[in-house]
Amino acid sequence: MAELTQDQIRARVAELGDWFHDMDLKGVRTAPNHFLHGYPASKFARFSHALPADMTGKSVLDIGCNAGFYSLEMKRRGAERELGVDFDDPYLDQARFAAEVKEADIEFRKLSVYDLAALQERFDLVIFMGVLYHLRHPLLALDLIHEHVADDLLLFQSMQRGSEEVFPVEEDYPFEEQAHFDAPGYPKLHFIEHRYAHDWTNWWAPNAACSAAMLRSAGFEIVDHPEPEVFLCRRGPPPKLGAAYPARATTNGHDSSGDRA
Ligand SMILES: C[S@@+](CC[C@H](N)C(=O)[O-])C[C@H]1O[C@@H](n2cnc3c(N)ncnc32)[C@H](O)[C@@H]1O
Repeated sequence: MAELTQDQIRARVAELGDWFHDMDLKGVRTAPNHFLHGYPASKFARFSHALPADMTGKSVLDIGCNAGFYSLEMKRRGAERELGVDFDDPYLDQARFAAEVKEADIEFRKLSVYDLAALQERFDLVIFMGVLYHLRHPLLALDLIHEHVADDLLLFQSMQRGSEEVFPVEEDYPFEEQAHFDAPGYPKLHFIEHRYAHDWTNWWAPNAACSAAMLRSAGFEIVDHPEPEVFLCRRGPPPKLGAAYPARATTNGHDSSGDRA
């Protein structure tokens, strides 16, 4: 196929609507007025060193891939099998066009994070950047990633709000003990009933301790934390939630183990 001219690229970029990813497609910027300026390249520059420089032969799944910035970066590092999924058709169209311009062999498919089991495939690196706080069921999403698609590494990012402190949480506390809940560094997931930053798809804002605690709770071991919002994890054994609490005693006298299984 003949190479697209800059004018043709510019026209197609405009046709594809508003871009969230500001990328350089052969000299044409896709979102030059992005409120985060040069996002996500500006963010990636702060943690790119934490990922393997050579991804030759590796498989990568980019969940909530948007216009495919991270998929394209991993392709540049030599990744072999690459799949980007998102539930939004306009973003997937942008991703397909960006990959076409950059001559990158990446598959993009419409799929929700809640339907990952349908892939029946595991990946060496799963990218789950900037999606958790847009979900009504964030812990379910992490559990599904662990159960169905993660094979080794998980690259995770969430918008975070609140304290960056991390309070040393005990295994258990007596019912009467309540002070720790108010410690700034206790894991907290702030619920957004209406909107945040004019965006009704923002449902949650974890603090730093909460991002880390949720990842651990879903069976991911944190191996690097190169940037305040970014965690590189390794898939560990599935959490044995029910089995870890054999006493089954609860505050109301009922067996609530089902809530944690
Ligand atoms: C803030 S953007 C993050 C894009 C990219 N991962 C990044 O970090 O730059 C959130 C993306 O997640 C996608 N998304 C939100 N909910 C999703 C879901 N349930 N399943 C798949 N993708 C989802 C959105 O369409 C959007 O492209």
